[in-house]
Amino acid sequence: MLSDDRPLEELLAEVEARAKVCVACPLSQTRTNVVFGEGNPRSPLVIVGEGPGEQEDATGRPFVGRAGALLDKALREAGMTRRHVYICNIVKCRACVIENGRARNRPPTQDEINACFPWLDAQLTIIKPLVIVCLGSPAASTLIHKNFKIMQERGLWFSNRYALAVIAALHPAYILRQAGEAYEKSYRSLVEDLIAAREKVKEIRRLLDTQQPIPPEGEEQMRLF
Ligand code: URA
Repeated sequence: MLSDDRPLEELLAEVEARAKVCVACPLSQTRTNVVFGEGNPRSPLVIVGEGPGEQEDATGRPFVGRAGALLDKALREAGMTRRHVYICNIVKCRACVIENGRARNRPPTQDEINACFPWLDAQLTIIKPLVIVCLGSPAASTLIHKNFKIMQERGLWFSNRYALAVIAALHPAYILRQAGEAYEKSYRSLVEDLIAAREKVKEIRRLLDTQQPIPPEGEEQMRLF
């Protein structure tokens, strides 16, 4: 199915259509929308978050709430916009608990992550990014290694079966829960990790394509990756 010659947009649309009717886990019973992912599927850089929150569930789009606004700001500081990257999550439906009659986000369970994994696997297999940025610990534990320690291991480079270079950064929702200096420090680390990811794309491209001359300094800055 995934090895045919159709354009990747078509392959991805087909997977998305199947994901939209997925009932593989109980999150399908409480979701409003499946949040599959969006952005440039031909980007060398894929950003993977944890899962949709309230706004994302309501709109069907990833990172459109407060955490998304912070991610957009950090991307801009790293010289990118979400049109330059592809953004998705390890789980495609909102995980929440009802407390005092209100739905509150909760981390997805391992069973939910496992049930949803085939969608992420298909996305990354089709997109074939050069670099993946995992936002937060659940994404890093899923895509880097099982006992990932986000505070110790963020900003370090790994690789996996989907990309030559994989890095984890602090999740924007975690950063939003910090105050004062802790907020500043954690936000700077996110920007730094995004800049490192963008630089890593350029480095890998040079290594893969030794025919491609390294552009002179000025020209280099005109190009995003
Ligand atoms: N947090 C995530 O991890 N993903 C989203 O899409 C929104 C918030």
